Amino acid sequence: MSGYVLAIDQGTTSTRAIIFDSEMRIAGAGQKEFTQIYPRSGWVEHDPEEIWDSVVSTIHMALREAKIEAKDIAALGITNQRETVVVWERETGKPIQNAIVWQDRRTARYCDNLKRQGLEKTFTKKTGLILDPYFSGTKLSWLLANVKGARARAAKGELCFGTIDTFLIWRLTGGKSFVTDATNASRTLMYNIAENKWDEDLLEILRVPAAMLPQVKDCADEFGVADASIFGAAIPILGVAGDQQAATIGQACFEPGMMKSTYGTGCFALLNTGADLVRSKNRLLTTIAYRLNGETTYALEGSIFIAGAAVQWLRDGLGIIDRASKTGELAERADPTQEVYLVPAFTGLGAPHWDPEARGAIFGLTRNSGPAEFARAALEAVCYQTRDLLDAMQKDWKNGKDDTVLRVDGGMVASDWTMQRLADLLEAPVDRPVILETTALGAAWLAGSRAGVWPDRKTFSARWKRDRRFEPDMDEKTRAAKVKGWRNAVKRTLSEV
Ligand code: G3P
Repeated sequence: MSGYVLAIDQGTTSTRAIIFDSEMRIAGAGQKEFTQIYPRSGWVEHDPEEIWDSVVSTIHMALREAKIEAKDIAALGITNQRETVVVWERETGKPIQNAIVWQDRRTARYCDNLKRQGLEKTFTKKTGLILDPYFSGTKLSWLLANVKGARARAAKGELCFGTIDTFLIWRLTGGKSFVTDATNASRTLMYNIAENKWDEDLLEILRVPAAMLPQVKDCADEFGVADASIFGAAIPILGVAGDQQAATIGQACFEPGMMKSTYGTGCFALLNTGADLVRSKNRLLTTIAYRLNGETTYALEGSIFIAGAAVQWLRDGLGIIDRASKTGELAERADPTQEVYLVPAFTGLGAPHWDPEARGAIFGLTRNSGPAEFARAALEAVCYQTRDLLDAMQKDWKNGKDDTVLRVDGGMVASDWTMQRLADLLEAPVDRPVILETTALGAAWLAGSRAGVWPDRKTFSARWKRDRRFEPDMDEKTRAAKVKGWRNAVKRTLSEV
């Protein structure tokens, strides 16, 4: 059998299809951006049909570039933006409305209501999550309450709920498979991560009928077969994981204590805690890192909603850069005597603050502040937020032992300046891998190893290679002053103040 493995990486702003060869090198790729729909302030939607079209077209692009045919692909792995909610008709496969995206804040009030009823503890205990609009459960609930007839139809089993992985698998298999994996399920606010099952009590609170939920599988499993009519040959779907979990796998963070941070639209740091379901005392999430052969590995996760999106804002909102890749160079020219802080709470603040009502703010502007200071403030904001997560993780994990090395990936890590600043502000080494496509690689490894055409976990881990390590190199006084300035800026941004 050939060793080609196809990965679909269905992200928040674009869809990518990547074909890896048997040596895990990229043989071909396709990428397509799709429309971000903002019907109201704080609302974010995607058109599931546009997402589906982007998946089909990027796979064709990747096949063309790799100069192979679908019959040469041994396995398909899927990784996806997590938490985003799609509801479609079982009969026709047609979505009943746009997908509600993870960034969408429309259920902030509903979450507050649940909190007022004293229910946050129950949700956290069972799901490892907190009551924030970020997660799927309240979004699904909103949809059932607000789309005409939806609740009654769902109760009759006429509607299906899925995160993006489930929707794509449904479409790829022509409605034959209605499945998800444990990592995606663990982000829904409806899945009991200790018992590994949909939780009846939570479904009742959220008024979600169990009939509309997919079957939950391991990350490397039989998810169905992509129908031959779509790509010219049938392709077995053998791997699925949410994108941050796939990156954790792609970064080979298989041992407890290993940690990765991915800088895409947002930034998501995951610390592998092994078989230990660690309860955070510092407002981090407990989540499933992966489930393989029925064994669950847990992680602590810190989620920051805006990372690369702050750079996009500099480009598209302010127009002070024309290419995102130029931000590091611009930041390097910033005046070192000016301390400008940008708190990019454009869609509220995630971990460890969880303030959906907070909105972005900038502090410390002077008459001399210009594009370079804005660029530095945007990049440093990402570093400071990672620092907040790392501090919280160290408190939750092994009583503050601080020998963490952070493995990084995502678009922003190409900038040496940003990675050096990250190491400086974290006070910890930062490792950048040779293969930066860790998310797609993680999904491909799940599928390829399941198909038996890619190496096992041990060999895969041994092949992880560092491109460069960034060691902290900032004097303690400067670092402490900068971090203090940041924390002060955040305090002034929180909605209660
Ligand atoms: O939890 C949201 C996350 O999965 C989105 O990732 O890479 O699309 O920003 P990304």
